[in-house]
Amino acid sequence: MDWIPDTCLGNEKTLFLHKVQERFAFFLAVMIQCDPVKGNRQTIHQVIRARTLSVPTLPLAILIDNPQTANALGPLARSLNLPLIDNPRAATLVLRRAADRLELCKPGDPGLPGSLWVDFSATVAGRRRHQPGRDLLVQAVKVRVEVEPLLVDATAGMGRDGFLLAAAGFRVVMFEANPVVAALLADGLERARRLAELASTVDRIRLVVADAVDHLPNLENHPHVIYLDPMFPLRTKSALVKQELRLLQLLDRHSSDPALLLQTALAVQPRKVVVKRPLKGPALSAWPPDYSLKGKAIRFDVYVGRGKKEQSA
Ligand SMILES: C[S@@+](CC[C@H](N)C(=O)[O-])C[C@H]1O[C@@H](n2cnc3c(N)ncnc32)[C@H](O)[C@@H]1O
Repeated sequence: MDWIPDTCLGNEKTLFLHKVQERFAFFLAVMIQCDPVKGNRQTIHQVIRARTLSVPTLPLAILIDNPQTANALGPLARSLNLPLIDNPRAATLVLRRAADRLELCKPGDPGLPGSLWVDFSATVAGRRRHQPGRDLLVQAVKVRVEVEPLLVDATAGMGRDGFLLAAAGFRVVMFEANPVVAALLADGLERARRLAELASTVDRIRLVVADAVDHLPNLENHPHVIYLDPMFPLRTKSALVKQELRLLQLLDRHSSDPALLLQTALAVQPRKVVVKRPLKGPALSAWPPDYSLKGKAIRFDVYVGRGKKEQSA
């Protein structure tokens, strides 16, 4: 632990408390397992194993598994108000820096062996980006505006949809309420900015770490389109996507009510509000959308015409 930066006092305090809790659980385990009344004295090896299994873990922490990343992770730990750990088993979910990226993983869960990070250079993202006109989402959000239209992606998540829309020519304001998801997204955007072919797309994106429900009524510039993709259980055969969704769902503790999000977006009166839904899922509104574009597993519900024609960004 010598290499945890001095600046991380707040987090060290949390870590210290966790260690105290861990020690307490250890002695409790010793007392229970060496109880002479029950006469079941066990070896110290078994007790330590029991301690590892029984200690309650932190829900989420930042793992420093490489001294070289310690300085970079200190400020992140402070901004996310998360403890720093050096033992991956001390937390259920960990954020860590691997190579040049920030990633989220669930150590010790054989069902979730991979990790989650944002990569805009990946093949699938690239394929969508190179033919944006053919993408159903791009067709759904299309508006006739001469200059770059302004779109608010109110549920940015891992930023795939928002990034595609920026590549298709929109200026995109992304809102992401979960600070950990936002940190992964900011990291992906920063790496994309360093790639010549993606830099101009990143320049059209602004990420705001906040709840869109609070901020949509007070936007600086009136958007032409608001896009919503609230979390829903996606049936997919891709193990990769399933893993990603499970990790995201573990993080997604305080998503706002999707119907309230739609209501708030409609009140802003953009030209279009577009909502991603499961193909056969109910609409988020009590009344039907103006129209829907349907794909194989999802559809986009489009609410049109509530904005003024002369809106400008
Ligand atoms: C299904 S994911 C979006 C995926 C995204 N469209 C993509 O392409 O990666 C939904 C995200 O919306 C975020 N979210 C939900 N309600 C929100 C709100 N009111 N304001 C901001 N973000 C919100 C959740 O934290 C979650 O990360």
